[in-house]
Amino acid sequence: MSSERSFIMIKPDGVQRNLVSEIIGRFERRGYKLCGLKMVQPTRQLAESHYADLSERPFFGDLCTFLSSSPVVAMVWAGADVVKQGRTMIGATDPLKSAPGTIRGDLALVTGKNVIHGSDSCENAEKEIALWFKDGEVCNYEQVTAPWIY
Ligand code: TYD
Repeated sequence: MSSERSFIMIKPDGVQRNLVSEIIGRFERRGYKLCGLKMVQPTRQLAESHYADLSERPFFGDLCTFLSSSPVVAMVWAGADVVKQGRTMIGATDPLKSAPGTIRGDLALVTGKNVIHGSDSCENAEKEIALWFKDGEVCNYEQVTAPWIY
């Protein structure tokens, strides 16, 4: 099994709307391995660091205000091609452009309240994991393997 990891976060709207188990279930059923999980209300500073690449965009302030307004569920998921596949499972940034069957396409309507974040590259995934999780908070464990488990 690949050791590729992605940082996946259920944003405040996803938590407030009780979508946590729905979203975790999709990653579990796909076969990905949960390696880190915590609920945290991000500080404004953490929100700004997470979205630092977007600091010049006009929506940056509102985005950081929203992200730090209420708890999020921060996760690390591991497995084959999880960064790209995770983005496919999540759907397009604008939920109205997200295909049915994707998380945003099934569960959201508005870009600013699109339920979930997923890393867009392996390099950013590792940066985001290091930003959100301390040493020892992410588990590295072997899953039971059998020919009939994929
Ligand atoms: P981005 O990293 O471009 O998208 P994604 O979450 O799909 O990787 O943008 C980060 C978040 O910023 C996005 O999930 C929602 C918010 N956002 C806006 O509020 N307005 C916008 O026009 C865009 C592009 C993003």
